[in-house]
Amino acid sequence: MASISITVDGVRYDDDVEPRTLLVHHLRETLGKVGTVVGCDTSNCGACTVLLNGRSVKSCSVLAVQADGQEVTTIEGLSQNGELHPVQRAFHERHALQCGFCTPGMIMSAVSLLADEPNPSTEEIREGIEGNLCRCTGYQNIARAIEHTATTSRGGVAEPAAEATSAAAANSETQEVAA
Ligand code: FES
Ligand code: FES
Repeated sequence: MASISITVDGVRYDDDVEPRTLLVHHLRETLGKVGTVVGCDTSNCGACTVLLNGRSVKSCSVLAVQADGQEVTTIEGLSQNGELHPVQRAFHERHALQCGFCTPGMIMSAVSLLADEPNPSTEEIREGIEGNLCRCTGYQNIARAIEHTATTSRGGVAEPAAEATSAAAANSETQEVAA
């Protein structure tokens, strides 16, 4: 066993883990952070994405011991004082999810993307989420939600809700792939 200390969503946790334990399993099974999900066993889907020292990583491809002494942010740590993070709010308002399974990882990748590039182009948004797979939405509204977050954080005018609603209706027909 290895002794590790990881700060997760602002709280420090000291634990003993098997050296082979994946970070995602440590988060879910030891710390109860079940908002971070496992969608594959090939490191392809991105559903397990968290922030490690502010940068997005697939937590199924990181060992818990590699996060020793580091800061991890999960989807459960994004909201502040009961207020959704702007990306969370945009996903809700822009209908950027259907079943929701990919959503935690997708949002964490979007947060990382916007931290690196607060004013991303549509192409940069699509590249930024290319490691996250969604089987439901066709990606269109996800990209729109991220763009909406960037626009509103710059004090810009939000896309009309009616347009988002019609986009939601079109969503099920759109099977555009991000990458
Ligand atoms: Fe699919 Fe991590 S669970 S990439
Ligand atoms: Fe279902 Fe993305 S909303 S997988």
